[in-house]
Formats: sequence, structure tokens, C-alpha cells
Amino acid sequence: TYLGIDLGTSGLRALLTDAGGAPMASAERHYDVAHPHSGWSEQDPADWIAALEGAVDELRGAPGWDALSGIGVAGHMHGAVTLDASDRVIRPCILWNDTRSHIEAAALDATPGAREVSGNIVFPGFTAPKLMWMKTHEPDSFARVAMVLLPAAYLNLYLTGEHVADMSDSAGTSWFDTGARDWSDALLSLGGMSRAQMPRLVEGCARAGTLRSDLAARWGVGAVSVAGGAGDNAAAACGTGVLREGQGFVSLGTSGVLLAARDGYRPSPETALHSFCHAVPGTWYQMGVMLSCTDSLNWLARITGARPAELTASLGERLRAPGRERFLPYLSGERTPYNDADIRGAFTGIGAETTRDDLTRAVLEGVSFGLRDSAEALRGTGARLDHLLAIGGGTLSRYWLRLLATVLNLPLHLPRAGEFGAALGAARLGRIAATGESPGPIMTPPPIGEVIEPVSEMSDAMDAAYARFGPAYIGIKAVQ
Ligand code: XUL
Repeated sequence: TYLGIDLGTSGLRALLTDAGGAPMASAERHYDVAHPHSGWSEQDPADWIAALEGAVDELRGAPGWDALSGIGVAGHMHGAVTLDASDRVIRPCILWNDTRSHIEAAALDATPGAREVSGNIVFPGFTAPKLMWMKTHEPDSFARVAMVLLPAAYLNLYLTGEHVADMSDSAGTSWFDTGARDWSDALLSLGGMSRAQMPRLVEGCARAGTLRSDLAARWGVGAVSVAGGAGDNAAAACGTGVLREGQGFVSLGTSGVLLAARDGYRPSPETALHSFCHAVPGTWYQMGVMLSCTDSLNWLARITGARPAELTASLGERLRAPGRERFLPYLSGERTPYNDADIRGAFTGIGAETTRDDLTRAVLEGVSFGLRDSAEALRGTGARLDHLLAIGGGTLSRYWLRLLATVLNLPLHLPRAGEFGAALGAARLGRIAATGESPGPIMTPPPIGEVIEPVSEMSDAMDAAYARFGPAYIGIKAVQ
């Protein structure tokens, strides 16, 4: 059997699958994010270990546990776990959604070579600028940094006793040559770091090490292989079978992600797309990231005193034409296509007759138009998008799915209820690391319950509304 661990921002989920990869049991533990100052976002890695041990305790009773032979870890990306020479954690992990190092990020991003080698904008949430921030603001701690691990690699260390990370996660550090799948000495030295402070690299589905014997004895298992693991988006792509050109998913979560697998490496940092290594050798993926996706709807729900599902249910299922009310979904700034941490959202076109339904419709449209920005950027890099899997909490709204299919002009494939997320992807990585099987036949798409087609009679109206979405950003930018 195999164990997939998804180290998420709000909790850890562990999924046990059988030898054929079918889910058998899962356990979940939650932890907090600390926001000691505005824009800061931190976690104590000890909380992740406690969550993992708690989840394992629960799973130990499950049938098949004692036959465990492979583990894979997926983690939230970009976080900096700093370790001293004795592998002690120096300070809390600075997370992906922490923006304190935006000045360092902008400086690094403007340095010749940074975008060219890493293939990405240096976003404020990425890892390298966090260490630059530490160097200035916490110089004593910075001087003690012997090793920097991403969250998934920190769990790899706990599991195997080794400093080892995978390429998909490492590509999000801004210290990485994403085309060469290796650390870049040039980028490391730009940020005042060295290769000696970086973990050994393996492919996500390769064997990174063996479960420590003391842990194996305590957990009641034998010799267990631990995979390189993956960043959570690459792991979700492994879980949904998004491996090859033409395959992709749109995830409607707190943040929105539109991800396409790529056969080759075609970076396009100027579009604010992310171009990262996949967890499978010789493949890459690109994605657009929208910071406030279901968060936009949640915000409207909060201020109107309704639940998000009430808001969307009140629209019915028939797609409405766009009205005058428009929403710009930049509640926390935006990554793709603007890389603009300062911009904030707006409602425009409000009239005395505007109703709550009009606002809900406008919010869903604004978020969908933002995701189309990512789709257009992906198409611009030559990505083939024939259809997309639709995943995440937002897919519970039928109205939103129809709207999004129409705005993107793509059929959306809705998986049947079941497992297809990062935890399943991580378990698949653990399996491949343990057995040496080839990824293709294992990383299959989930069974599709339904295909949501674009509503063709509404396409022209949506295109016309989308054409005014980009100019609206420029307009609100001018008055903020
Ligand atoms: C990706 C990103 C987020 C985190 C959250 O670039 O920052 O999706 O991985 O888990």
C-alpha cells in the first residue's frame, strides 16, 4: 500500500491507497497560520509534524497499513524552512502568501538573468526574496542558516533523515534553473546563498530515501521508500492525470489556478504565468494563479450576510447575459496576468436598480474573466487547451461551471465524486518511487461524471464583456 501526504496551508491530509492505487482510508489534522503583522503569514513546522503523527496514528488501524511500501509528500509551495547546522528550525516558516519581502522580490526580479534562468517573475511569495528579507531584518538568524527546505522537503527530512527535494517544488524558489532542472549557482549568489545550503535534488517520482528505521518501528511498518514528492499544484496534476500537452485543470479554490501540462519548457515570465518543472522527468507545467477566486464570492457572502451557496443558488442554473455591473476580483492583489500586489478590486456600473443577484453574477463573471486572462496567456505560449478538468469547491455551483465553460470557450470535465487531489498525486509518486513503474499508466484522469459545454448563444456577449475587463484594470489602477 502507499501513503500520500498533502501538507496544505490549513491542514495536513494523509491518504492510504491499495497496491492498485485505489483509496482505502484517509485522516486529516488542522493547524493555524499566524499573521503577526499585516502581510505576514507563518507556520511552525513542528505543527506539521504533530499533524502528520496524528494522522498516522489514526491510519495505523486501517487494513493494509502494515503493508505500506511507498510514501509521497506534496506541500504548499515557496515556504522557507530555515535550519541551522544541527537541523534545528531557526524561525517559523514564511509561507507562500506572505508578502513582507515584496521590495526584495522586485529588486531581484529586476536583476538581469533572474527571469531568464528561473523562467518566472520573482513573486513576493517566492523563496529567494524571503531569505534576502531575513538577511536585512534578522541578520543573526540569517547567519545561522545552514539549509533551506521547502515545506514538503522538511517532511522528507523528518521521514528519511536526509536533505532532499524534488524539482517541481524547487522550481518555485527563484534559485532554480527550471530548464536545466538544477539549482542555479548564479541565482543563488544573487540572493546571498550557496548550493551547500540547498537540498539534494531528485525527480518527484524518484526514490529520495527510506523511511527512518526508528519511525518505521514506531509506525509498525517495514522498509518504506519515500519519493521526492512535489509542490501541491504538480501533485494535483499527478492526481488528476494532467501529464501531457493538451491536458489541464482549472481549480476553483480560495485562489484559482489554471494549469496546463507541457511537453517542453516554454517560459513566458512577462505574462506572469508560472513555469515550473513537473514531478515527472522531462515534463513541465505552466499555470496562471488568481489570488482571490472563491475568496471573492466568500467576501460577497460575508458582507451580504448570506452563504456562498445561497448566493449562487439564487441565480438559478440558466446563464444570464452580462449586465452593466462588473467586478474586478483583486481583493488581495493579483499574480497572473499583472503581478500587482497593490491593486485592489472594484464594482463598477452599479445602478439604483442593482440587486444582490446582479452583484453575485458580476462576481462570478469577474473571477471567470480573470481565469480567462490565464487561459489566453497559456494559449499565447502555445499550450494546447482542448478541455479542462474542473476541480475545487467552486465547482459545486452549476451556474458558475456553465459561465466558466462559456467564458473560456472550453468544455469542462467534472470528475465524479472521489479522490483526485494532491494527496492522491502524492500517493502515486510514492508508488512509483517504490516500484519503479512508469508514471503514464498510473497517473490517469479521474472518471468523468459530466461534461459542461459552453453555452454558445451567450459566447458573443461574454466575449464582448471580457474585452472590457482588461481596460477596466487600467482604469481602476489609475484611481488607486
Ligand atoms: C503556487 C502557490 C500556491 C501554493 C498553495 O504558486 O503559491 O498554489 O502552492 O498551496
